[in-house]
Amino acid sequence: QGAIYGAGVYGRTPVVPVEPGRLREAARKAMSDRAFAYVDGSAGRGRTNDANVEAFGRYRAVPRMLRDVRERDLGVDLFGRRYAHPLLLAPIGVLEMAHPRAERAVAKASVATQTPMIHSTQASVAMEEVAAELGETPHWYQLYWSNDDDLARSLVQRAEACGAEAVVVTLDTHLMGWRPEDLDLGHLPFARGQGLAQYLSDPVFMARVEERAARGSARPTERPTPAAARSLVSIARHYPGDLRENLRSPLPRAAVETFLDVFPSSGLTWDDLAKLREWTSLPILLKGIQSVDDVRLAADQGLDGIVVSNHGGRQVDGAVASLDVLASLGDEVGDLTVLFDSGVRSGSDVFTALALGADAVILGRPYVYGLALAGAEGVQAVVEHTLAELDLTMALTGHASVGEIHRGALAR
Ligand code: FNR
Repeated sequence: QGAIYGAGVYGRTPVVPVEPGRLREAARKAMSDRAFAYVDGSAGRGRTNDANVEAFGRYRAVPRMLRDVRERDLGVDLFGRRYAHPLLLAPIGVLEMAHPRAERAVAKASVATQTPMIHSTQASVAMEEVAAELGETPHWYQLYWSNDDDLARSLVQRAEACGAEAVVVTLDTHLMGWRPEDLDLGHLPFARGQGLAQYLSDPVFMARVEERAARGSARPTERPTPAAARSLVSIARHYPGDLRENLRSPLPRAAVETFLDVFPSSGLTWDDLAKLREWTSLPILLKGIQSVDDVRLAADQGLDGIVVSNHGGRQVDGAVASLDVLASLGDEVGDLTVLFDSGVRSGSDVFTALALGADAVILGRPYVYGLALAGAEGVQAVVEHTLAELDLTMALTGHASVGEIHRGALAR
């Protein structure tokens, strides 16, 4: 990491701004209004999104001296594998809004920095294609468990078949939160056919689409708006055969309607998790955990891990800051592996989350800003900046390895 720091100091202009606020502002200028609103936006008045970031300000590192920190080891062990460092890339849907190469570009940065991707169910590129791009670099899969169990099982089994090493089930988004930024622009990307690559490449989903189209229940595609027409074209491209023929067929419209059918999954309960255990032998983590009682339930049920997260404040406005949840956890965690996200903007933030008990930390919006600004290189730069600052923070606070970072490293 020293080399990265050196490059900055010695005058090579960074690929993307190093300072998190400037990174965000640069992305705002580079992105369309709709894309920036979708990525940057959060639920309601943004109180939880702000609280996530502000919560880090309640903790201060307590540097220790004279500890020989010439050699630093950022490595962590998760589920029996050694990872080079404690950072993962958040599952983020519809990355095509940030950059046309979407997950393909993120995969390149993942390989370059050895930062595992958690591939989203709402991705813009099918998981098999991303896995091929990743090669030996480890990756995980994020499941949105639709109200169609056959589809959920199919997605999980495809993920396992293409080499994902863990399944992260996101529980906080069985419905989309109230997102004023998107609402004011009249924008729901999925309804426009964006972020559906995982579904359009799935045999179970496609069978449902064919059934719907055959029933003739899809609304006719008369006079679509230009934007709707573009999204229908992108869906039609997923079908074999002649594009114009496909466009005249009810299939693209049926695909969007089928997605909107399966997405609300508000009926899930703790009892359903047993099914997931049957579908896969991979470690299972629950993402979106925000209550100590739910941590207890997860431990009691023998889950492998949790992601303490409030989805970047995108679901419940006024929900408790994610870092405060992490800080409140104690013995109830038991053997669960604890990951953390929501509000991480810097390497110093990663250090704080590790000290408050996270085994690894997930980076969200900042890497999407990097993607929007400079594709794979932009994602790589954001990750490198974060890791370099983490490395420096460890050195300057007297920690030679991640395992040494404990609660005692912080003052409140
Ligand atoms: C997300 N997040 C998310 N989570 C998930 O499990 N599946 C998904 O498809 C998405 N999609 C998504 C899109 C966008 C644009 C954002 C910003 C976030 C939530 C994500 O994984 C993570 O929890 C948050 O990004 C963490 O908050 P910060 O650090 O970005 O504020």
